[in-house]
Amino acid sequence: MSDLAVSDGAPDAPLLEVKDLKVHLRVADRLVRAVDGVDFKVDTAECVGVVGESGSGKSTLIRAISRLMPNLQVDELSGELRFEGRDILRMADRELRTLRRSRGFAMIFQDPLGYLNPTQRVGRQIAEALSPDGRGRSEHRRVLDLLDEVGFADPGAIARRYPHELSGGMRQRVMIAIALASDPKLLFADEPTTALDATVQLQVLETLYRLHKERNMAVAIITHDLGVVAELCDRVYVMQAGKFVENATAVDLFERPQHPYSARLVELSAHRLDFRGMQQ
Ligand SMILES: Nc1ncnc2c1ncn2[C@@H]1O[C@H](COP(=O)(O)OP(=O)(O)OP(=O)(O)O)[C@@H](O)[C@H]1O
Ligand SMILES: [Mg+2]
Repeated sequence: MSDLAVSDGAPDAPLLEVKDLKVHLRVADRLVRAVDGVDFKVDTAECVGVVGESGSGKSTLIRAISRLMPNLQVDELSGELRFEGRDILRMADRELRTLRRSRGFAMIFQDPLGYLNPTQRVGRQIAEALSPDGRGRSEHRRVLDLLDEVGFADPGAIARRYPHELSGGMRQRVMIAIALASDPKLLFADEPTTALDATVQLQVLETLYRLHKERNMAVAIITHDLGVVAELCDRVYVMQAGKFVENATAVDLFERPQHPYSARLVELSAHRLDFRGMQQ
């Protein structure tokens, strides 16, 4: 069934292909060219990083691709957005939901608490991501398997907890389990570890990397940490003021940055400085 749902795309098309994407927003009477004509591609099972200073448009890019833009006044949304060759920009909502539910793409964010239901046990929330009623015995088994897969030693106990009974790192793992419920081919991760302390960051990133490899799942990760890029990513896009100024392999970016802005990012990361808010 799910295979049929995605079979009308071109079989040899890239997993995700974005061409000349523009997302212009109206913010209090001002026009903000948050994303201003970018080309972006993610291949099957690839890990791609997006880096750039605060406000450069990274989240808007990922949100536009996922078509998750609540409460935004969009002045222009144009370009091409294709998942396995299928046009997601013009896709009907119903078709998009099918794509999200079965072997399409999923997202995790910086702040899992904002996306978890505080009044529901996390096991139930994962079960609902598996199927809308989520009550069968096989769902329960799969919930436990997912919790195990994201690194919990005692999935049964975790499934019974409420989000506020978990630490930040545990909540992010639960979010990852929810994202994995649809068995996505592509996972978008928008600064998934920024809110966590350093040791926990590393553990969650290791988990993401393991899942990327074990599941052959492509990952597009937004981060302000070039160390993360060096560890995880095959390719990197450097974003500045709504445009990509560089698209390179991680190795090339570190060894031969082509754009002065990328060069400064690399230089700063060598000094272990955080480049957020860096002035040009
Ligand atoms: N909900 C919103 N309301 C107002 N302006 C927005 C909103 N979302 C994005 N913008 C504007 O769009 C531009 C791009 O923002 P975006 O959040 O995509 O940047 P970012 O690269 O993700 O930054 P950060 O690293 O801080 O997360 C900014 O100028 C921002 O002010
Ligand atoms: Mg952002």
